[in-house]
Amino acid sequence: MDIFDIIRTRRSIRKYKNEPPPEEMIKKCIEAALYAPSARNSQPWSFILVKDKETIQKLSKSQPYTKFLEGAPYVVVALADEKKSNHWLEDMGCAIMALLLEAHSIGLGACWGAIYNPESLERENHVRQVLDIPENLRIIACIGIGYPDDTPSSKKIKSLDEAIIKIV
Ligand SMILES: Cc1cc2nc3c(=O)[nH]c(=O)nc-3n(C[C@H](O)[C@H](O)[C@H](O)COP(=O)(O)O)c2cc1C
Repeated sequence: MDIFDIIRTRRSIRKYKNEPPPEEMIKKCIEAALYAPSARNSQPWSFILVKDKETIQKLSKSQPYTKFLEGAPYVVVALADEKKSNHWLEDMGCAIMALLLEAHSIGLGACWGAIYNPESLERENHVRQVLDIPENLRIIACIGIGYPDDTPSSKKIKSLDEAIIKIV
């Protein structure tokens, strides 16, 4: 698939087949994230790869919209060292997007579970305690990954004419 087709056909997948993909496939998705752009090439990211079922179960309780994680064979926890970059949140968006696109391109399904919340540390504290994550790392997302067992209904996107508000 050409890169545009990968971008165009990627969807959030929240249901996964029971059979877990080889760990190497998940590592490849994480490796893709390492190539993402970041402010001043600060690369503030690090990751925890979770495959232990009991731990995944605990992570799925981070907030109501991370319940889908309970059926995931793997959860990738995306972390940011906020001292390394003055744009750590944007950097992490780029890295996670690369991970999601790589997952789709190799036949996996993935979905972002939001942990970082600008208004509260509650979800971060939950994940921090479950995985014993040091205080200097912010916890951005718990990403569920596995072989897809769902075909999401089509999604309406903005037209190009709507999105480009001006050409000057
Ligand atoms: C910052 C961010 C946070 C998200 N948090 C969640 C979440 O907590 N739970 C969830 O099921 N999906 C979450 N998603 C996935 C979005 O719901 C999904 O991307 C959106 O509905 C568009 O669908 P698509 O990814 O299939 O194109 C999140 C996506 C982003 C970018």
